[in-house]
Amino acid sequence: MQLLLLHMQHNNVLILDFGSQYTQLIARRVRELNIYCEIHPFNKIPNNIESYKAVILSGSPNSVRGEDVLHPELKGIRGEKPLLAVCYGAQYLAHFSGGEVAPSNTREYGRANLSYIKEKESFFHNIYEGSQVWMSHSDTIKKLPENGVLLASTHDVENAAYKIEGEQTYAIQFHPEVYHSKDGKQLLENFLVDIAGVNQDWTPQSFVEETVADLQKQLGDDKVVLGLSGGVDSSVAAMLLHKAIGKNLYCLFVNNGLLRKNEFHDVLEQYKGMGLNVKGVDASARFLEALKGLSDPEQKRKAIGRVFIEVFDDEAHEITDVKWLAQGTIYPDVIESVSATGGPSATIKSHHNVGGLPDFMKLKVVEPLKALFKDEVRRVGASMHMEKSLLGRHPFPGPGLAIRILGDITAEKVRILQEVDAVFINNLKKWNLYDSVWQAGAILLPVNSVGVMGDERTYEKCVALRAVESTDGMTADWVNLPYEFLQKTSNEIINKVKGVNRVVYDISSKPPATIEWE
Ligand code: XMP
Repeated sequence: MQLLLLHMQHNNVLILDFGSQYTQLIARRVRELNIYCEIHPFNKIPNNIESYKAVILSGSPNSVRGEDVLHPELKGIRGEKPLLAVCYGAQYLAHFSGGEVAPSNTREYGRANLSYIKEKESFFHNIYEGSQVWMSHSDTIKKLPENGVLLASTHDVENAAYKIEGEQTYAIQFHPEVYHSKDGKQLLENFLVDIAGVNQDWTPQSFVEETVADLQKQLGDDKVVLGLSGGVDSSVAAMLLHKAIGKNLYCLFVNNGLLRKNEFHDVLEQYKGMGLNVKGVDASARFLEALKGLSDPEQKRKAIGRVFIEVFDDEAHEITDVKWLAQGTIYPDVIESVSATGGPSATIKSHHNVGGLPDFMKLKVVEPLKALFKDEVRRVGASMHMEKSLLGRHPFPGPGLAIRILGDITAEKVRILQEVDAVFINNLKKWNLYDSVWQAGAILLPVNSVGVMGDERTYEKCVALRAVESTDGMTADWVNLPYEFLQKTSNEIINKVKGVNRVVYDISSKPPATIEWE
């Protein structure tokens, strides 16, 4: 619904996804140009195709020569709208329109440089011979399709870019969306703005104005309940709804007893300061009771999910006549739930907050951030003057410290981990490292080790510190924190937190590890 409303007001770009790992990056680059776009699977073309101003075909892990070739329905697109075909898209247009695609003789991964550039005034405007582009393909276009005109080559790839005479169809073998294609964004701008005539009118301010107006239309005088988590997405969603419907928004902030130290109190105060109609519900004891004796990560997640729903349901029933449940779902959650090739994707961990609350709540769902990426959510929040300390917070998992306490959970273990985590996070802030780290936290390990304090032998807990850099949590690398920082932090933890005598630092990337240990 939300996507539909927005879409009618903007010059919209359609990205057809063939399952490339880079498809989301295409959307990000287009949005960075202040142009609104949507990703749809290649075989699910929206009914209102006439309202899209331009179409981009993504790359794909599949081959146009294999049995698993993906056939897009290009009726109403090819020859009728500006079309940019990237990698697989370029090969598809060649292979099925009189050209030829064959396996590459040389490796075509990574860096290449453009030569023989044509159309320097339009498609390659401001892009010069030698410009670095990024290749990632094992097939290559040997012969251009019917009416194909060569626009650029590289050392190893003769047909690196071409257009179709008589159409606004352009095709490129390289990936303009990746950072290492230095002029990739310029190329997308040339195609979308100069050739397709799309307006660059997608800004955080325009998003706020339009969304607030849409929400007012959609919700009228209805009451809405929203679960705040302390995180960026639910907080920004709450602010948008607050702007739209004021006191009819009922926010609940549930303390599951597994939040960071002082988090429940501090964040609740911050929410109240923002003018939100928010109720803090302290259900710590209920969660701890449900977790008693559980040490399997999935069982812990399920127990927390179940109790959260029970608590939320009890509280929502207290609000008379509530009709809607608001959620802070963002665009990657939506895309990841629709696979381009229809194949099942492995469940690594069940993220209980994705997928919403069960049907028995009988509430209609409103998701005002459904069209945004994480960094856009932050920009929207900033344009509503939300505090930096709220918008810049590290991601924190819904099950909280429960999945950072390996093994079973007790109140004492929660206390130890909260103390350790607080020292680590405060030090990151003190050393001005917090904002350059994507996510950080401490993990309580289920091992005791021998130590010596004063002249006494100790046999106490070991904690691991984890700090990663990432853009979306899908891949991540450990952060090279200064030795001196690690030294001081380790000392402070062992000296201050009773029950801990050893600190280790996690130096595993994702993959093969994950960010959380459970
Ligand atoms: P992993 O551990 O899968 O985490 O590399 C990727 C990102 O997701 C967060 N995460 C969760 N968030 N419920 C959540 O809301 C969960 O069950 C959950 N598990 C992991 C994790 O903190 C990281 O940001």
